[in-house]
Amino acid sequence: MKYRESGMPPQDYWEALLDVALILDRFGFDAATGDVAELGCGYGTFTVPLARRIGGIVHAFDIDTEMIAHTRRRAAEAGLTNIRAAQRDVFADGFGLPDGVCDACLLFNILHSEAPVEMLREAQRVIRPGGTVTVIHWRSDIATPRGPSAEIRPLPEQILAWARDTGGLTAAEPSFLLPPWHYGVKLRKTA
Ligand SMILES: C[S@@+](CC[C@H](N)C(=O)[O-])C[C@H]1O[C@@H](n2cnc3c(N)ncnc32)[C@H](O)[C@@H]1O
Repeated sequence: MKYRESGMPPQDYWEALLDVALILDRFGFDAATGDVAELGCGYGTFTVPLARRIGGIVHAFDIDTEMIAHTRRRAAEAGLTNIRAAQRDVFADGFGLPDGVCDACLLFNILHSEAPVEMLREAQRVIRPGGTVTVIHWRSDIATPRGPSAEIRPLPEQILAWARDTGGLTAAEPSFLLPPWHYGVKLRKTA
């Protein structure tokens, strides 16, 4: 099932709203980072720059076959061989990766879904102990040009409460702003 309000505007417009390098820098992704799982890669906005900078593989999933084709095309154009992009309903079927194989999992603009705790649990499952679940979402304290409806748009505190509900994810640091429109939450796997 495609989760609620997960449609995308045209790529150029979407990507003009995100400072991708700042976001990846802020979470600390670098050559020492191993494999990463990404739920809902969309246009590959983060997938391709992430793959360029990490030592491992980006396992990118999206329910939309056009998004996967698009991400694969961008990866090929960039000459990257460390992206595995696959069509998958991650809500229904999970990532399909073994337990604990990833250093990190990206949940970017995802957690306004119908099942945030289940998605956090699945992210927790595929990362190693000490690994991170990295979350970005649209701010609610300012007017933003895109983003889900106010009623379902999570605050950082809500993300942290859902993380606690997993029983195995805790805040690695306080939440932070990712200008112009987003905030970030970095969670660490403790159990
Ligand atoms: C709002 S977009 C975010 C894309 C990307 N994370 C970003 O921030 O640029 C959400 C993406 O999640 C995908 N998606 C929705 N439901 C999904 C599901 N059940 N399994 C995997 N992907 C899903 C959509 O097709 C869409 O590409």
